[in-house]
Amino acid sequence: MRKQQIGDATLYLADAFDIMPTLGQVDSIITDPPYDAKTHANARSLKARQLVSAIDFDCFTEEQFIEFCANAVALARRWVVMSCAWQHVAGLEKAGVPLVRFGIWHKPNGAPQFTGDRPGTGWEAIAILHRQGRKHWNGGGHHAVWVCNIEQGEHPTQKPLKLLLDWIAKFTDEGETVLDPFMGSGTTGVACLKLGRKFIGIEKREDYFDIARWRIDDAQGRAISLSPPTPRSR
Ligand SMILES: C[S@@+](CC[C@H](N)C(=O)[O-])C[C@H]1O[C@@H](n2cnc3c(N)ncnc32)[C@H](O)[C@@H]1O
Repeated sequence: MRKQQIGDATLYLADAFDIMPTLGQVDSIITDPPYDAKTHANARSLKARQLVSAIDFDCFTEEQFIEFCANAVALARRWVVMSCAWQHVAGLEKAGVPLVRFGIWHKPNGAPQFTGDRPGTGWEAIAILHRQGRKHWNGGGHHAVWVCNIEQGEHPTQKPLKLLLDWIAKFTDEGETVLDPFMGSGTTGVACLKLGRKFIGIEKREDYFDIARWRIDDAQGRAISLSPPTPRSR
């Protein structure tokens, strides 16, 4: 386990399931956990297979997803927002985990259907949860639909900074603390620091942790090298 403080960001190189029970309450949890085992396992095209071999973390089962969501709602004072497998969302309501809205991230530049024998997907599911009680967000009457292109990064499933900036701006307020227990290359952290939020990030792979550290340094004008480290070859 390694813990590093960079300005308003606290980063852990550790397993999220070891660290989360040791944290006090946070304001919100905004994250992109390992999911989508089914899509990856079914990959047929060369490009999709290369992506699968790049993703070497285990993906959540439905039971793990529901348990994680229940724990996250208990830990967060406000919102829990995360990308997830759509197949797992219905189970939340059955398990009594307070799902507020099922949202969509539409990716206009998403991969086409390489087999050409059916429509492509082009979107990812977003679970938006909140403990019982009064809620507020900064999105007014907006729909839970985000249209945003995929951006290439150092991490195989790096989320677009534009998407995370919008989530942080809409679901959290300045000065609040946001936790991302599966931070990968730290996109949530970069968005938090750019918008004046405090950030706690956890990542178990050292090479991704080092990229996140570089990006978070860079967001605060402190990076000492010009480009981020490269992830280890897989
Ligand atoms: C989908 S990726 C997150 C990518 C991130 N949103 C970004 O923009 O770079 C999920 C990350 O969770 C990490 N991870 C998986 N299981 C973990 C665990 N138990 N504790 C901490 N990190 C974990 C993986 O190594 C991976 O980097």
